Amino acid sequence: MSDAVTPFQAPIGTHDVWGSASGEWEGMIATFAQFAYRFGFELVITPMFEDVGVFNRGIGEQSEMATKEMYVFTDRGNRTHALRPEGTAPVVRAFIQHGPTTPWKAWYVTPAFRYERPQKGRYRQHHQLGVEVLGTDDPAVDVEVIALAHRFYEAVGLTRFRLLINSMGDAVCRAAYVDLLRAHLAAHVDQLTDEHKNTWMKNPLRVLDCKDANCIAVTDAGPMLIDSLCPECRAHLDHVIAGLTSIGIASQLDPRLVRGFDYYTRTTFEFVSDALESAQNAIGGGGRYDGLAEQLGGKPTSGIGFGSGIERLLLVREAEGVAPGTLLNRDLDLFVIDTTGADAATQLVDELRGAGFATDRAYDNRSMKAQMKVADKSGARWALLVGPKEFEAGEVTIRDLRSDNFEQAQRSVARNDVVLAVAELLTKS
Ligand code: HAM
Repeated sequence: MSDAVTPFQAPIGTHDVWGSASGEWEGMIATFAQFAYRFGFELVITPMFEDVGVFNRGIGEQSEMATKEMYVFTDRGNRTHALRPEGTAPVVRAFIQHGPTTPWKAWYVTPAFRYERPQKGRYRQHHQLGVEVLGTDDPAVDVEVIALAHRFYEAVGLTRFRLLINSMGDAVCRAAYVDLLRAHLAAHVDQLTDEHKNTWMKNPLRVLDCKDANCIAVTDAGPMLIDSLCPECRAHLDHVIAGLTSIGIASQLDPRLVRGFDYYTRTTFEFVSDALESAQNAIGGGGRYDGLAEQLGGKPTSGIGFGSGIERLLLVREAEGVAPGTLLNRDLDLFVIDTTGADAATQLVDELRGAGFATDRAYDNRSMKAQMKVADKSGARWALLVGPKEFEAGEVTIRDLRSDNFEQAQRSVARNDVVLAVAELLTKS
């Protein structure tokens, strides 16, 4: 006798997508794919894991993400890999490896893995829709990338979101600013949270991100990067903001916006939703990373992109009361019921699917009543019935599953005319 096994559950902080959520996910991804195509991006798929160095060098070896959140493992060949915590570094690694013509405009849909404290809107495996553009620092590209996110959010029905923007400067002006900030923090260490008391020296920019009132008071009284930008970085930011304004996209300058990865330079941005709690209100974020390709061993190449969490977008849609099913209709057109016990349904569904109708059927040769129950639950508009009587007469009964009036609900058509009859019904309904 085998031991009883307690049914397994998905790991903490992960979730399955199925049932009614499934169509919402498909709609979200299909809409994003459509926008990426419209904006001239190609789909890029990179491995789910990379040499750990791709991330350590990209997002910063000392960063919270690299030290505490990354899923790192050694494979059987003794190579150290990491499950991707984000999508940008792998795309830049692929860019260096393949050397595509620039500008290279890539989009992706990918899971990302972060060992975080799970809560609503924050998971250990989440999924991102994103884009990256490699090979130009033209502010027009910054505008285009931000506009793509903005137009996509509008298209999926969101209205209560804001665009926050800042500049991280370049290697030179940011380094000068970080020195200023360190000097300021050094004079106020005792007011910082315990965490930042330990890390301010190594990671002073993170203090700007802190939500603690004392940390905010300290940084409020200190220098802001926006005031230390070199003229070129300031002009780049102004150009981006003006470009956005020219196409009707409002942005709010947020000097505290520093984002979590070391690779950012110049433009950084985040879209926040006012329909979600503030801790998890970022529906998307991104920015420039003009030094990342070099960090990963490539030639100096500018880059910019953004990532947006699918789970967060769906939470915001719900919080904003957007009706489900509006992105993509995944209702079945037809449901075939066959009580002849032979291949009538197999042939009928093959023909109907071939003609382009979304068609499902019942299995296991069950009774008419049992099959009708499945048809009712399937969401299909019309059922096609083939019993021994219909089969004999070379006919199919078509039944309106949304009508209670038995007389009007069904009619017979010749088996050979079924595709035409169904096409007519579906264009009318
Ligand atoms: P990120 O801000 O870390 O940026 O993530 C992008 C988006 O992914 C967030 O705005 C949020 O919607 C979603 N997200 C992040 N972490 C979680 C989580 N634990 N659970 C649920 N959703 C989450 C990046 O990853 C950069 N690679 C974006 C980028 C692209 N920058 C330049 N190019």
